Amino acid sequence: MTRGKFITLEGGEGLGKSTNLAFVRDQVEKAGHPAIATREPGGTRLGEAVRALLLGSDAIDPRAELLLLFAARAQHIHEVIEPALAAGHWVVCDRFTDASYAYQGAGRGLERAFIESLERHVQAGLSPDLTLLFDAPVDIGLARVRARGESDRFERERVDFFERIRAAYLDQARRFPGRVRLVDASQPLASVQDAIARHLNPWLGT
Ligand SMILES: Nc1ncnc2c1ncn2[C@@H]1O[C@H](COP(=O)(O)OP(=O)(O)O)[C@@H](O)[C@H]1O
Ligand SMILES: [Mg+2]
Repeated sequence: MTRGKFITLEGGEGLGKSTNLAFVRDQVEKAGHPAIATREPGGTRLGEAVRALLLGSDAIDPRAELLLLFAARAQHIHEVIEPALAAGHWVVCDRFTDASYAYQGAGRGLERAFIESLERHVQAGLSPDLTLLFDAPVDIGLARVRARGESDRFERERVDFFERIRAAYLDQARRFPGRVRLVDASQPLASVQDAIARHLNPWLGT
């Protein structure tokens, strides 16, 4: 049984991750690989409960937030991601550990070494094969979030918070150039999906 590949979608709010999750899964399936789409926090009962806690509460201590996210991630890996990959399914995930470096690291000021330690222990060598990083100037994402008519705890943060998130994601792309591929999320959806397909091609053999 050939192990499946693990693809993550990352980037700031409103840049098209959720919109393109099914698109990526469908491209993978069209190339003949069974695939599942999932998200973080979420993907399991525990994970969805953590998601509701994080989005619904004010003034969560940053360490509590990070540990809750990694608790959800541990369960997600154990219950969903690893079994799927082992069974030869490809896993497409809306956000993963790059988001912890961006939001809880750069956004909330937690030490990188703290996150690295959790990553090492919780993931035990698991890392995405490919990460599509949706990137655009912060005002574009914020305008789309407003148009979507939503505002949760993260989306109400100040603009400088989102600038730090963007810079941290770009830093992850520089640290892991073999894994992370940038997608210009300021473009119309059709161009974004062309770019996604181009990044997927080497993996799909199409
Ligand atoms: N390339 C695009 N151009 C214009 N609007 C887009 C584009 N991609 C997504 N959107 C819209 O922007 C909003 C945010 O997209 P979404 O996929 O929810 O972002 P994310 O999951 O990254 O927060 C949605 O209303 C979506 O329809
Ligand atoms: Mg989303």
